[in-house]
Amino acid sequence: MKSIRTGIIGVGNCASSLVQGRFYYSDSEAHIPGLITRNFGGYFACDIEFVAAIDVDRRKVGKDLSEAIFAPPNCTTIFQKEIPHLDVPVEMGYMIDSIPEHTAFYPEAERFDPLPQRYRSEKEAKRAIVSYLKERRVEVLVNYLPVGSERNTYFYADCALEAGCAFVNAIPVFVCRDYGDKFKKAGLPLLGDDIKSQVGATIIHRVLTRLFEDRGMPVKRTYQLNVGGNTDFLNMLDRSRLQSKKQSKTQAVLSQMNGGPEDPRLVHIGPSDYVPWLKDNKLCFLRIEAEHFGGVPMHVEVRLSVEDSPNSAGVIVDAIRAAKVALDRGLSGPIVEASAYLFKSPPVQYDDSVAKEMLRKFAEPTLKPKVALGSSTVSR
Ligand SMILES: NC(=O)c1ccc[n+]([C@@H]2O[C@H](COP(=O)([O-])OP(=O)(O)OC[C@H]3O[C@@H](n4cnc5c(N)ncnc54)[C@H](O)[C@@H]3O)[C@@H](O)[C@H]2O)c1
Repeated sequence: MKSIRTGIIGVGNCASSLVQGRFYYSDSEAHIPGLITRNFGGYFACDIEFVAAIDVDRRKVGKDLSEAIFAPPNCTTIFQKEIPHLDVPVEMGYMIDSIPEHTAFYPEAERFDPLPQRYRSEKEAKRAIVSYLKERRVEVLVNYLPVGSERNTYFYADCALEAGCAFVNAIPVFVCRDYGDKFKKAGLPLLGDDIKSQVGATIIHRVLTRLFEDRGMPVKRTYQLNVGGNTDFLNMLDRSRLQSKKQSKTQAVLSQMNGGPEDPRLVHIGPSDYVPWLKDNKLCFLRIEAEHFGGVPMHVEVRLSVEDSPNSAGVIVDAIRAAKVALDRGLSGPIVEASAYLFKSPPVQYDDSVAKEMLRKFAEPTLKPKVALGSSTVSR
């Protein structure tokens, strides 16, 4: 079985967990817990081969990816110290709207520290990055930019299209909605949008919401408050960067309600604050209020404490393999079968049990190539 030539945009905490995980799960025969899918269409976690990495932080650019993942401000748990030299020096990217201004007032160890722009124009940057991705023969490109990087995400999606890479969009920018047709036309798979953590706030909120609705108790009011101490939470202190994140998280929960409260303000979901000493530990406080038999009120409260980045990296391990399987099967455009379970804002929202079954079928190694839901078969 061939490896999956993977490129990463944004060597932050999620990328650190992803690279560490690739080596933690280096034995394809071993049944080590922590993955959604062990054998995905014939590919194992250890078939992911990192061949390219792009960042803009002076502490990361130029370093081998195996070292850059441990450079500040990354602060996630190190669960796999031994990473071989990968021969992937981190390449300088192009900044449009990815670096939030407010972070400049925070200590260097906690914030991004970008190098000056290397390219004089977007055109020049695109040419250089496309040729880098082609040189490195990247098959699957993962987007891990900070929340709010709208234009920057489309910039890298354009690079992927031109370089012939499948695109996995881990962040809340609606690439499937806006670029689905472009990827379909180019004969390239697109997975997204906004990775749904393995057991995180979104999936817990969705499952509890579905439980209430299925048992005849529509949700009357609910909130989900999240705090953390990594650069993701620092970045999200700028509320203007949060629109798509809030929309993605809220829609992921609303989609499980049969209608939902009339006043949309009764569903409050979003990142709430930055607490530096929490580092990559994310806390979620969740409350659901409803009425049971006889209109008698009741509520549920949940407090979740989770290391944020490994929680999403396990899901990306499935998404990368789904993108490769889609390439092998000649599928293009948004890959609904895999995105529905793995992302908060897939092109179509399904009930999680349905989405899980779709993913399981898609991941079956023996599946013959066929036209899939929302994707088109192309000859490559
Ligand atoms: N559970 C999770 O952790 C989770 C879940 C869903 C979505 N996400 C999203 O995934 C994304 C990545 O999360 P993270 O915790 O790794 O973030 P992070 O802040 O640790 O990493 C972002 C990286 O992008 C780099 N970067 C900034 N501008 C760039 C540019 N123009 N080109 C290339 N690199 C650039 C930064 O230097 C940094 O290394 C965020 O948008 C986050 O919201 C995370």
